[in-house]
Amino acid sequence: MASTHPTITDEMLREALSTVIDPEIRKPITELGMVESAEVDEAGRAHATILLTVSGCPMKDTLTTDTEKALRGIEGVTEARVTLGVMSDEQRADLKTMLRGGQAEREVPFAKPGSLTRVYAIASGKGGVGKSSVTANLAAALSEQGLKVGVVDADIYGFSIPRMLGVTHQPTQVDDMILPPVAHEVKVISIGMFVPGNQPVVWRGPMLHRALQQFLADVFWGDLDILLLDLPPGTGDIAISIAQLIPTSEILVVTTPQQAAAEVAERAGSIAAQTHQRIVGVIENMSWLELPDGTRQEIFGSGGGQSVADSLTRTIGAPVPLLGQIPLDVTLREGADEGTPVVLGRPDSPAAVALRGIAKGLASRSRGLAGRSLGLSPSNR
Ligand SMILES: Nc1ncnc2c1ncn2[C@@H]1O[C@H](COP(=O)(O)OP(=O)(O)OP(=O)(O)O)[C@@H](O)[C@H]1O
Ligand SMILES: [Mg+2]
Repeated sequence: MASTHPTITDEMLREALSTVIDPEIRKPITELGMVESAEVDEAGRAHATILLTVSGCPMKDTLTTDTEKALRGIEGVTEARVTLGVMSDEQRADLKTMLRGGQAEREVPFAKPGSLTRVYAIASGKGGVGKSSVTANLAAALSEQGLKVGVVDADIYGFSIPRMLGVTHQPTQVDDMILPPVAHEVKVISIGMFVPGNQPVVWRGPMLHRALQQFLADVFWGDLDILLLDLPPGTGDIAISIAQLIPTSEILVVTTPQQAAAEVAERAGSIAAQTHQRIVGVIENMSWLELPDGTRQEIFGSGGGQSVADSLTRTIGAPVPLLGQIPLDVTLREGADEGTPVVLGRPDSPAAVALRGIAKGLASRSRGLAGRSLGLSPSNR
């Protein structure tokens, strides 16, 4: 910082720049070693050189505008200019070490003892029941309630979460660290972001496991309250990988009211009995359609959600509640297509009200280790 202006001090300059938040890392640029220099001359002309983590950083325009704005906000500044540079390898290495809390090695942060992040895997047996819609909306609603939320779209063939949350750009890669795009204050990463050109992929179990591990370890998540994992349909490898990588992760089962869907949802849920994961509860989606006269038409039948909850309660031997019923609602589908989850775009619509209720219940579950499954199974002795 170097000010030669009669009233603007270096301290004022530093303070102004500390209000500029890196759009991906979500920390002030002054803490990230991104301000190479900043000065104000006697006539009040301000100039700052900002170092990008990587050249071609997709957020460089936002950074430039935000920095200029911060400089112009200092009383006495008549003109603000920003020059962009790029960090050296050494500066990047320092940044990474700092972001990893002084640790150089990679590990899955959520699996570390004492991690305070609650991890929820959204599962279903059948496809198309609304897992991704539920995940995107819960993420947006939880974040709106003030929690720090991340989402992993673990569905390699699906890849729908980024569109539903309105993510438009790719993650930035700083060497082996991945900075996830942020939409509606939610950090979003999708396995599909790393598949070149939308090609159909055939990945075998071990490859998926490694990809997932990499995601969880190499993505800079920061200090999350909640991580949601949108699983592919079925009882496949991914669910087992998640259980291995994050043993404390808990499961939310999504089903429709239809009996056939409910039976498969039960199977998906009962995997948890084998992996010793806790099932938080069941969410029934597409429960009914509200007609203009206020009556409910049960398009997919009724009772599926409750019957999955009851059956899992018996299998697991611990209460598995029905957390909520989400009606069919055209605004939900429209919100997903537009990239603004219905809980934010049309918070009073019937689906949004139901989803916000479920999010509220999840948010109030205490943070931390209390109440977590210890992974013990009853012994026969
Ligand atoms: N309550 C609802 N009202 C209206 N449309 C809905 C509702 N829930 C989901 N949809 C729509 O149904 C379709 C399938 O939903 P979604 O993609 O969330 O399901 P999924 O379980 O993630 O599917 P997949 O198994 O393919 O991953 C989407 O077009 C979505 O917009
Ligand atoms: Mg999906």
